[in-house]
Amino acid sequence: MTPALRDFVREHRLHPGDMIAPLFVVEGEEVRNPIGSMPGQAQLSVDNLLREVSDLRAVGVPGVLLFGIPAVKDAEATGAWDESGIVQRAVTAIKERYPDFLVVTDVCACEYTDHGHCGILVDGEVDNDATLPLLAKTAASHARAGADIVAPSDMMDGRVRMIREALDGDGFTSTPILSYAAKYASAFYGPFREAAESTPAFGDRRSHQMDPGNIREALREIEIDVLEGADMIMVKPALPYLDVIRAASERFELPLSAYNVSGEYAMVKAAAERGWIDEQRVTMEALLSMKRAGAERIFTYHAKEVATWLQS
Ligand code: PBG
Repeated sequence: MTPALRDFVREHRLHPGDMIAPLFVVEGEEVRNPIGSMPGQAQLSVDNLLREVSDLRAVGVPGVLLFGIPAVKDAEATGAWDESGIVQRAVTAIKERYPDFLVVTDVCACEYTDHGHCGILVDGEVDNDATLPLLAKTAASHARAGADIVAPSDMMDGRVRMIREALDGDGFTSTPILSYAAKYASAFYGPFREAAESTPAFGDRRSHQMDPGNIREALREIEIDVLEGADMIMVKPALPYLDVIRAASERFELPLSAYNVSGEYAMVKAAAERGWIDEQRVTMEALLSMKRAGAERIFTYHAKEVATWLQS
């Protein structure tokens, strides 16, 4: 009957420390390009990124996941492993100013290729093995820039092992790999591709991302990444795949994250703008369902506002 009693018997709760905020970084100064399909989110230049990090720290969010949008894209995703690339400079800037703040980097080629695919194309298809060295180089460059965690999101087979070897070879034996181990070929990534300017010029990602009809395959994908040396695992998207989060949490002992993706965020924002739902309650209920399903941490664009609500 009372808030105190309900609080006393509550099994799961949201905490600012459980959320990581994904951010998009672009070249330039004083840049804040709002992302139309993700109200409240923007592409930020490094100076504004530092301001955003300061805001996140103030409300208790412990870290960010960085996506870079380079000024120039090419077929080989050169910008992805460039020592002075946009993500590499952003990581260094954050770590110089806020050494205790967690910086996770997304390791993938799709934001850096002119064709928008997640790797090297051979005969018009993403070539798994030709892409692996590119991912390994990219992850190592992120570690050199100061990243705390590298997070491959490409879904190539064998990339965790290659990345581990590259990190170890460079002396980064303690840099953990958070593998987007079960990542589905999802229509819920639509707004992200506007934000990251990474829509494939042709075709789709079904040759390497998972089929939404499969769950046993998700567990096999996770197991392979664990055997290759993943330190942490992720299920993505979150809300339409709570069963996968639950199954992964029962089967694996590694830290488990859920990625509450762009389309999940956009749906809540759009319905809230129309006054069709109570934004605060719907957002918190959705995130709580991910924790209840077994996710320990949530990557979510709602991180700052939820942390602010939790404070009040
Ligand atoms: C690939 C990547 C994607 C997302 C995160 N990393 C897009 C894709 O696979 O097409 C999607 C995240 C979101 O929708 O919020 N670099």
